[in-house]
Amino acid sequence: LVVSPFIAELPKVELHIHIEGTLRPALRWKLAQRNFVRLHFRGHEYKTYEELLASYEVTYNHRPELGGRKDVPTFLEAYFAGCEVLLKEEDFYELAMDYLERCQEMNVRYVEPFFDIQAHTRRGVEAKDVLNGYLRAQKDGLSKFGVASNWIFCFLRDEPVEDGEAAYETARPWASIEGGKGLFHAVGLASNAYERPPTLFKNAFQRAKDDGLHITTHCDFGQKDTHEHIRQAIFEVGVERIDHGLDALDVDTLVDGLRERNIGLTLCPHAYHRRTPTEVLFPKLRELLDKGVQFCINSDDPVYMHNVWIDGNMEKTMHYCGFTKAEMVQFVRNSVDMSWADDSIKEQIR
Ligand code: ADE
Ligand code: ZN
Repeated sequence: LVVSPFIAELPKVELHIHIEGTLRPALRWKLAQRNFVRLHFRGHEYKTYEELLASYEVTYNHRPELGGRKDVPTFLEAYFAGCEVLLKEEDFYELAMDYLERCQEMNVRYVEPFFDIQAHTRRGVEAKDVLNGYLRAQKDGLSKFGVASNWIFCFLRDEPVEDGEAAYETARPWASIEGGKGLFHAVGLASNAYERPPTLFKNAFQRAKDDGLHITTHCDFGQKDTHEHIRQAIFEVGVERIDHGLDALDVDTLVDGLRERNIGLTLCPHAYHRRTPTEVLFPKLRELLDKGVQFCINSDDPVYMHNVWIDGNMEKTMHYCGFTKAEMVQFVRNSVDMSWADDSIKEQIR
């Protein structure tokens, strides 16, 4: 996938990326050596760097419960397996700095990365090490690479709601609240959505709202009960953005709800393209534009998605939808408008 100079040079904003989904194999290997972690995956051990590298070339399974093959690992299995090398504050710092440096290379000026604290605390890592690592990277990423970031705490929706609530209370001193450290300014909902609708987390979200934080939720493309999840997100939880949410197109009341409440979608086209034919997928983006639903282009988990980053997602979208340069610029403006950055940051990017 070749990124054109036009896309490469465009100043960009990324609103849908999981920091753990940016852990590149070189850093994963380095941390495994440093922390004495052996890389086991489904009973197999990656004993060489080459073997590890080869594991990234596959397209991971759509979930078995949705009719996918059980013998092929799912995307989330691979993503959480990658996390196993992250143990100390310095590891989280290096992960985030590696990503923020990558942002500088791609001319991404501002990002709102998701982080899954429970993916680490449930393995015995201390929350403060995760949070302080990211906090230090937030500061150094700005001073060294000129990349500003405001982070998004995610509940793992397939874990008990109380665990998510407890994780939030632990992380709260790092939030952008009165007296807080200013790492994260929003709360989201990620991981496996199967039979885990957004309303389960309604009270948990309300707590964050009462703290003055922003809220968003994943409504994965092609997920079981996807329309019901989007309906709950818009009308019951009252989110400000939806991550993915492309299935809203099928239902007029959902399209109207998004428009009327000014809820934008953070889309990740390559993620859908992995398992959706070109002629089915890309016309949907054009249709969203025609219907006046706001959206922006993002990358989700680039390392586990064939190493396609935000620039590659934009390139593919421009190519397969036939969008003009002016339309592509508008998508970046949308991401500025949809962002929760301070006005001073918004002004710099606009
Ligand atoms: N967490 C990290 N990546 C995710 C994805 N693509 N879908 C749902 N949850 C995720
Ligand atoms: Zn995502």
